[in-house]
Amino acid sequence: MSINTIGIPTDQLTLSKTTLETLLAEEYKLYQKTLAYHWNVKGPHFSMLHALFEEHYNWLSSLQDELAERLKMLGFNAAFPHTENPSDSSKKSGDAMLADLLENHQRMAISIRAALKEINETDDFVTQDLLTTTLAEHEKHCWVLSSHLEG
Ligand SMILES: [Fe+2]
Repeated sequence: MSINTIGIPTDQLTLSKTTLETLLAEEYKLYQKTLAYHWNVKGPHFSMLHALFEEHYNWLSSLQDELAERLKMLGFNAAFPHTENPSDSSKKSGDAMLADLLENHQRMAISIRAALKEINETDDFVTQDLLTTTLAEHEKHCWVLSSHLEG
């Protein structure tokens, strides 16, 4: 069995690489959407939603850095994710933005949980921990966004 420079069996690294690359691309899309909502939100709850979306895109920005740097630690390239042009969000209501972000964070939580089931079978404990922390944050964002929608 061969291992990489930090001791992880090389036959396990493909899963870490594809998991991190997929997650990075999805988080980048969510980051772009959240930033656009921060810019374009309007209505009676403008200040609160503007600040909430800023908090979320700042977290997504830091997260992308962590995911890309984990790829580098494992010996891979951290390519900038290619995404399609973001859709026009200027006509959406604040509630529609909240509901859309909630659906996105729910989808991320579900896909990360599925990825963890696979990657937890490997020796890449640090990626497992990064994914678990990321899952916890997405779950927290789901709670915050759904609480706003209930108000
Ligand atoms: Fe801003």
